[in-house]
Amino acid sequence: MPPENNPNLLVGSEKYADATIYRLTPEIAIVQTLDFFTPIVNEPFDFGRIAAANSFSDIYAMGGRPVTAMNIVCFPIKDMDKSVLQSIIEGGLKVIHEAGAVMAGGHSVEDPEIKYGLSVTGIVHPEKYLNNDNAKSGDILILTKPIGTGILATAMKGGLLNEKVTKDVTEIMATLNKGASEAMVEIGVNAATDITGFGLLGHALEMAKASNVGIKIFSSKVPIIPDALIYASMGIIPEGSHRNRNFCSKHIKVSEKIDPIRLDILTDAQTSGGLLISVQKERAELLQEKLKEKHSPSFEIIGEVFDNSEPVIEVL
Ligand code: CO
Ligand code: CO
Repeated sequence: MPPENNPNLLVGSEKYADATIYRLTPEIAIVQTLDFFTPIVNEPFDFGRIAAANSFSDIYAMGGRPVTAMNIVCFPIKDMDKSVLQSIIEGGLKVIHEAGAVMAGGHSVEDPEIKYGLSVTGIVHPEKYLNNDNAKSGDILILTKPIGTGILATAMKGGLLNEKVTKDVTEIMATLNKGASEAMVEIGVNAATDITGFGLLGHALEMAKASNVGIKIFSSKVPIIPDALIYASMGIIPEGSHRNRNFCSKHIKVSEKIDPIRLDILTDAQTSGGLLISVQKERAELLQEKLKEKHSPSFEIIGEVFDNSEPVIEVL
C-alpha cells in the first residue's frame, strides 16, 4: 500500500504497528483495528469470546481504551443452525462488555466457512500512545500470557486434549489484555506489542526492527502453557509456526543449548496472546506488581534489550 500523507495519521500502515492512530483533536486520537478468523475451538460461545479478545488486543497493545466494537460475520446461514451464530455473537458480546466497550453494529455475509471477529475503535491521547518502536537499550521485557496456544489449538482440533487443558487454553485466549494494558499505562513503559500470528520471536523481531535494537530472549524464563511441550514434542505444530521459523531465521541467533522443542514453541503462532512490554529496568518490578494486581495471567521477565546496529534476536 502506498503511504498516506496526512499529519493527523500518527500511525498508519507503513510501520510495524499493531493498530492505526488518527488524531481528532490535540487531546484525543482514535485507535482502530480489525481482526477476524475461522473457528479455533469447538464451542461457538468460546470461539466468540476468543475472537473478540483477540480483536481488542491491538488496541490494548497501543495503550488505548476501547470504546465501540462492530461484529464481522461470515456464516453459512442456509446450511447451519442459526443458534450457532447466536452463541458466537453472545460470546463476543460478553467480552465486548468486559472491555467496557459497546457493541455498535456490524456486517454479515453468507459464506460456507464461519468467520468472526470485530472492528474496534478506541481512544488514546495523541502524545501518550504506545508503539513497538521505542524499546531502549537496557530495557527489561515482560510477557503477560504464557505461550503455546497454536500447538494446543491444533491438538484440540485433532481431539487430543483432555477437558482440563481445553478449558485452560480456552480461558487464556479469551482473557483480554485489558489489565496488562492498564498496568503498563499506569507505570509508564517504553514500548509494547501483542503476541499473535508471528509468534513470540516474530513479534519480538518486529519490535527490534521498529526500535533499531537487539533483543535477548531468556528461553527458560518464557512461560509456556503446560502440555504445549508435550504436543510440540509429538510434532503437532501448526503450519503458520513453520513459516514463522523460516521467516525469522536470518535475524535470529539461537544458542546451541536450546532444546528444538522449546524453539518450536517460541515461534508458535499465537491466538490472542499476551503483551510483550519493554520497560525501563528501574520500573520493571513496579510493573510486575501492577500486573499481578490486575490479575495478568503472567508477569514474567523473559528478556532484555541491547544496543545493536542490526536488529537481531538472541535466544539464550
Ligand atoms: Co498486534
Ligand atoms: Co492485528
